[in-house]
Amino acid sequence: MDIKDRVVIVTGAASGMGAATAGLLASRGAKVVLADISDSGAEVAEGIRRDGGDAEFVRTDVGRESDAEALVAATLDRYGKLDGAFNNAGIEMCSLPLHKLTGEQWERAIRVDLTGVFNCLKYEIIAMLESGGGSIVNTASAAGQVAIPNAAEYTAAKHGVVGLTKAAAADYGKQGIRVNAILPGTIETPMVARAMEDPTFQIYAEGLLQRHALHRFGKPGEIGESVAWLLSDGSSFVTGAAIPVDGGWLAT
Ligand SMILES: NC(=O)c1ccc[n+]([C@@H]2O[C@H](COP(=O)([O-])OP(=O)(O)OC[C@H]3O[C@@H](n4cnc5c(N)ncnc54)[C@H](O)[C@@H]3O)[C@@H](O)[C@H]2O)c1
Repeated sequence: MDIKDRVVIVTGAASGMGAATAGLLASRGAKVVLADISDSGAEVAEGIRRDGGDAEFVRTDVGRESDAEALVAATLDRYGKLDGAFNNAGIEMCSLPLHKLTGEQWERAIRVDLTGVFNCLKYEIIAMLESGGGSIVNTASAAGQVAIPNAAEYTAAKHGVVGLTKAAAADYGKQGIRVNAILPGTIETPMVARAMEDPTFQIYAEGLLQRHALHRFGKPGEIGESVAWLLSDGSSFVTGAAIPVDGGWLAT
């Protein structure tokens, strides 16, 4: 489970599960590069440093390939290597039935939630091919395995993340690069708090708690624990997997 001195990129690190995971990894001795489109990622990095951790913030729009390339370059400049990554940045669902989605809403979801993972994977893998291996974790969702109603764009993007994860695992296993996805259930983050303000989502959410076998929603730190394991050698024979971290949602 040792991740001490590993250099890890975390995207979507300004908030929610990204911020919690960055903090948890740093508390276990990893050197963390926080990436986010929001500048409040700088404050999260500052907080980690105040607590004695090693962290840097790089402002990044994961939907832009040049930003993903610059993120990895900045990591290599600062720390000289890349051992792991948590590709987690994402945007919430539009809570609209498919026929009401605009082309722009569709394209934005695919650009951030799917192409964003591709862009980061590409440059992370280039760095790891140089150094001889690494471990990458992508955030999909329970919606990477089943449909969430009124979330066609989100469901499609997250299914895509699972496919991309398997493809990358197949392509780079021989070179010592492991790639896995986590499928979070409902996790108490600002994204879910915002979604709960939407009346359409509220109706769906009424039954959501019961769908989680543990009858509660998850905490961001519970995602961090799973990611820490997947980044460590404790998961050395795990690759191409889409692992539910969902309180039993997908099992019930
Ligand atoms: N919270 C849940 O219940 C839940 C469940 C399943 C999956 N997820 C997924 O988990 C991930 C994290 O979600 P969260 O709940 O912590 O949300 P959050 O909104 O708290 O955090 C998401 C972060 O991603 C950043 N971001 C958005 N677009 C970006 C871009 N283009 N480039 C870089 N950063 C960008 C945001 O600024 C924010 O800091 C997302 O991919 C989300 O789809 C969340």
